[in-house]
Amino acid sequence: MSSVKIIMAESAGFCFGVKRAVDTVSQEITRCADEGRGPLYTYGPIIHNEQVVSRLEQQGVRVIGSTEELRRVRQGTVVIRSHGVPKEIYRILNDNGLHTIDATCPFVKKIHQIVEKESGNGRHIIIIGNDSHPEVEGIRGWCGGDVSVIETHQEAESLIIPEDREVCVVSQTTFNSNKFKDLVEIIRKKRYDILVLNTICSATEERQNEARTIAAQADAMIVIGDDRSSNTQKLFEICKAVCRRTYHVQTAADLQPAWLMDIRSIGITAGASTPNNIIEEVQNNVRLNV
Ligand code: F3S
Repeated sequence: MSSVKIIMAESAGFCFGVKRAVDTVSQEITRCADEGRGPLYTYGPIIHNEQVVSRLEQQGVRVIGSTEELRRVRQGTVVIRSHGVPKEIYRILNDNGLHTIDATCPFVKKIHQIVEKESGNGRHIIIIGNDSHPEVEGIRGWCGGDVSVIETHQEAESLIIPEDREVCVVSQTTFNSNKFKDLVEIIRKKRYDILVLNTICSATEERQNEARTIAAQADAMIVIGDDRSSNTQKLFEICKAVCRRTYHVQTAADLQPAWLMDIRSIGITAGASTPNNIIEEVQNNVRLNV
């Protein structure tokens, strides 16, 4: 028996919001057919995971890839994924007479409500997050007035908003919590009337803290998740900062034997959109090879 210790993160895998969205689509496959509400669509891939999306596609679920595509859909049911969408999308869904199932994560919905309200109060909204991520695009779409998106120290430093302007800062739910604090500090120094709402999801924070703790004790660390998953990338960054031998895999097929050499312990974690079967497969593979 191998003496290599495998430390598995308890928080690895689907978070509450992702599980809820994936379950919603699975349930809708039969419901839609029974009630004659088809075809069934998701607005964008339901989660950032190729395996899950192609399994659903095989069951007849179609993916709408853009707003232009959505404008052309006149019949069926559309599931909104956990990332949420801009307000404008609800209007198109309604105008086109589509049946809408909203699987926006309640934590993301809360941010939509905050930015809508604070924009209405005249505040300039600052979103700390990745501008090209669909969640941020959705949040942006609920801001009624001025909005800026920043992700780096440099962007925070060079942010120019008129002095004494009232601003409201929110965060993408999957942002790195330490980096969020750093960027808020930079903005605070700019003498705005500032309202900061840390909207990082607690599931993300727990996952990040656990990953950091495990990576700090382990000789090597494996982070499992889709290439496009933002929270997986963040987990990778966090682990890499404390454990040089941190590796990212999408599935067990990406594991390389060299990674498992000369180690006494190995940690494993996974992003919020990584299904359990993939995590188990990676874990079993590691177990067989150490
Ligand atoms: Fe929701 Fe948090 Fe997951 S915001 S989608 S529960 S990471």
